[in-house]
Amino acid sequence: MSNLEYERLHHNLKLLNLITFESILDNYLEIASKAEKSTIEILDYLIAQELQSKEARSLSLRMRLAGFPVEKRLEDFDFKFQPSIDKASIKEIASLKFIHNAENVVFLGPPGVGKTHLAIALGIEAAKAGFKVNFSNASVLVERLAKAEKEKKLEDKIRGLSKFQLLIIDEIGYLPFDELGAHCFFQLISRRYEKASIIFTSNKSYGEWGDIFKDHVIAAAILDRILHHCTTVNIKGDSYRIKERRKQGLITQNFSG
Ligand SMILES: Nc1ncnc2c1ncn2[C@@H]1O[C@H](COP(=O)(O)OP(=O)(O)OP(=O)(O)O)[C@@H](O)[C@H]1O
Ligand SMILES: [Mg+2]
Repeated sequence: MSNLEYERLHHNLKLLNLITFESILDNYLEIASKAEKSTIEILDYLIAQELQSKEARSLSLRMRLAGFPVEKRLEDFDFKFQPSIDKASIKEIASLKFIHNAENVVFLGPPGVGKTHLAIALGIEAAKAGFKVNFSNASVLVERLAKAEKEKKLEDKIRGLSKFQLLIIDEIGYLPFDELGAHCFFQLISRRYEKASIIFTSNKSYGEWGDIFKDHVIAAAILDRILHHCTTVNIKGDSYRIKERRKQGLITQNFSG
């Protein structure tokens, strides 16, 4: 290969944004020539490496876009601690069919039972599968929607959220929504209904959702749409946080003799 061709090859690979291909090319060609690799083997390896790093880069972008407050994994969830959760049904949700079918998932239960953990873990599975995911706290989301409505930009805001195939709305019910908030939330739910999925977590049973939205009519309309295509995971059990505190207590006792 002449110097000119060599320079052009590197230049063109950069132009094509084949960053990994370009950066490992020289090194790999040397290894490949010693190992007497065929041209097909060389091309196959370089392209596979490029693809792998592109996928890793796009996953890390999706993870950043998702805005998870912490990273929680399904494999770190102790199902034995929470026997009210049917592991098979979580596995079924993790197959992500619900996203293909634009269905919803709701985790209900008292504090510390793993609602947010499971919601994030499923969100990460979805991001790994190539879906665009966005996590938000219910109060923060509703505040943003209400602000957009006041600025006559609610439509834009909801359209912006529609680029995510999966929304995770955490902590429905910890703080009540005012009338404007409930109205904006209804708009969001209506727009995604039968089009795109949402995972909700809530410490309130469905019967108590009327109090969150204050207006029972709007609460019923919201619930009707959410529950039409929905899997509810009702978690009844002890807080994992308390278990961890107990464990820490034991450790302290041991240290203090
Ligand atoms: N079964 C479990 N196995 C492993 N870790 C768990 C389990 N359940 C909860 N945790 C951990 O305990 C902590 C509390 O769980 P999480 O935040 O999911 O609770 P939550 O149900 O969302 O509670 P809250 O209603 O207070 O928000 C987290 O650090 C989470 O990773
Ligand atoms: Mg939570």
